[in-house]
Amino acid sequence: MSRKKIIAGNWKMNVKPSETAALVKGVAEATKDFAGKVDIVCCTPAIDVPAAIAAAAGTQVEVGAENCHWKESGAYTGEISTGMLLDAGAKYVIIGHSERRQYFGETDETVNLRARAAIAAGLTAIVCVGETLEERDGGKLEEVILRQMNVGLKDVTAADCAKLVIAYEPVWAIGTGRTATPDQAQEVHALIRATLAKLVGAETAETVRIQYGGSMKPGNAAELLAKKDIDGGLIGGAALKAADFAGIIAAAANA
Ligand code: 13P
Repeated sequence: MSRKKIIAGNWKMNVKPSETAALVKGVAEATKDFAGKVDIVCCTPAIDVPAAIAAAAGTQVEVGAENCHWKESGAYTGEISTGMLLDAGAKYVIIGHSERRQYFGETDETVNLRARAAIAAGLTAIVCVGETLEERDGGKLEEVILRQMNVGLKDVTAADCAKLVIAYEPVWAIGTGRTATPDQAQEVHALIRATLAKLVGAETAETVRIQYGGSMKPGNAAELLAKKDIDGGLIGGAALKAADFAGIIAAAANA
């Protein structure tokens, strides 16, 4: 089956609210020709979400956040609920990015809580998995991916998968300029889809989009996106320049 490609930017802790409209409008302008052909998303710092949504109005660009909490409201200082994101107009949320796992105590269990809350609320959850270099070199790649999938997606149903995107981000390729080769990425994407098939059934697993993330750029996007199980990209650095981001989206449109 053919899955529509999805290219999402992860702005991380870059771009101020006052800079947001220009970047979103730049992306919208540069990707006009790909409207409807590729899902185009900018995931921004929570404080930029309203400005991003205002700037994206009437364009093909959709907006997401970079994290959400699993409780609807309450005494959780510093957190953002799914209801708040929806109320602002966000459609997507990144869950379990490796930087959250590395620096902010995110675990497979909290990934699961956040992912299920996001999906239940009606947001599309972009759930990130990926191994460190140490894990890969230590022969633990498969074990790590299986654990992140099985625990992170526990109790996610086949019906929930309509609101699920998975991002494979090898930690050693993030922000390093070192990209997984298309074959290395495809191998893990196939493993992710096979694992998902065991969780929700093969038919549903075929419908779920799996993005690659880690130093994806206009120059290497086409060869990655040509692979059978690579259905898009989660883009860090190259999402901060409209022209670079658009170059990746063009590659997705032509894949
Ligand atoms: P880079 O594209 O900067 O390597 O970042 C990838 C990433 O972490 C996207 O979530």
